Amino acid sequence: MSREPTVAVVGATGAVGREMLKILHAREFPAVRVLAFASARSAGCKIPFGDEMLTVEELKEDVFEGIDIAIFSAGGSTSLKFSPHAANAGCVVVDNSSAWRMDDRCPLVVPEVNPEHLEKHQGIIANPNCSTIQMVVVLKPIHDAVRIRRIVVSTYQAVSGTGQKGIEELERQVRDLFNGREPENKVYPFRIAFNILPHIDVFLENDYTKEEMKMVNETVKIFDDPSVKVTATCARVPVFYGHSESVNVQTEKKMTPKEARILLSRSLGVVVYDNPRNNMYPLPGMHAGEDSAFVGRIREDESIENGLNMWIVADNVRKGAALNAVQIAEELLTRDLVRVPDKTVFIQ
Ligand code: A2P
Repeated sequence: MSREPTVAVVGATGAVGREMLKILHAREFPAVRVLAFASARSAGCKIPFGDEMLTVEELKEDVFEGIDIAIFSAGGSTSLKFSPHAANAGCVVVDNSSAWRMDDRCPLVVPEVNPEHLEKHQGIIANPNCSTIQMVVVLKPIHDAVRIRRIVVSTYQAVSGTGQKGIEELERQVRDLFNGREPENKVYPFRIAFNILPHIDVFLENDYTKEEMKMVNETVKIFDDPSVKVTATCARVPVFYGHSESVNVQTEKKMTPKEARILLSRSLGVVVYDNPRNNMYPLPGMHAGEDSAFVGRIREDESIENGLNMWIVADNVRKGAALNAVQIAEELLTRDLVRVPDKTVFIQ
């Protein structure tokens, strides 16, 4: 587009929304104006955007007129309700919830992996699940080089993935335990402090959780390759920021750990941090606040042919959510795709 866009952050008071504002400012996103929306509860509140304070406005169906890009992180039901109104007003939506991810009309994009999928967008673009993003950034170069047949992943996910309320629950429970009080479980079904819960999102008919099936289905959509088999186990751990993943891949052709390190050290969005002799491996406590996906513990899976094991860590609020969404908005600008070709697609 020839002029600078007007940008809205929807869900601006949440953990991801606040980070989106920080990242838009830090990366000097070329916006002529930035607006902040949340629920009626927050209308009138002030939130920081660089040195400015933005006044939060109530999200309503008719607010999108004149807005070019809306980055949503306000949950699935809010997105389902409001994103079609945005697209209908000619505003391109980048949505962080799971509402649109598997909708055939919506590209599911990680800019380092499949930016070309943006070309066919129809007004709503989905940001993948946090655990999927950090995994595919690392695995796509391997897939391109030696074809991944199967991925087995176990996640160790931070409480910030649940939003502000997850962060507050862990803080409160730790304080309660140290002060001899019985902690209350408001957000998770069991205590998260000093515990691990193999349960993220709801259980489905097949006894997997929705989070686990997101990793399976989203990976196939992003790779655009149904031949890749994925199985996942997702656990919530008492870490504030940064998801970790143990990932095992079986590939068609062999790739040695050394070849993988060389390939990944040249790949966009990936940092290889892997020197076991010096205790160098990625840690959520070390890489929270950073932009890349960090990979270490790369080693051969000696139990199968053509197998690799690795450990992947990224800041789930940044690369897993806010940063990836802002990068999508940047890519839309670069490719001159800030437009809605047919405004009626999402309005039935
Ligand atoms: P609010 O703070 O007014 O409730 P988190 O994921 O950290 O919990 O953040 C969720 C974000 O989504 C918050 O900014 C929240 O605003 C916003 N939100 C939740 N429900 C709605 C809604 N119905 N309309 C607009 N924003 C909403």
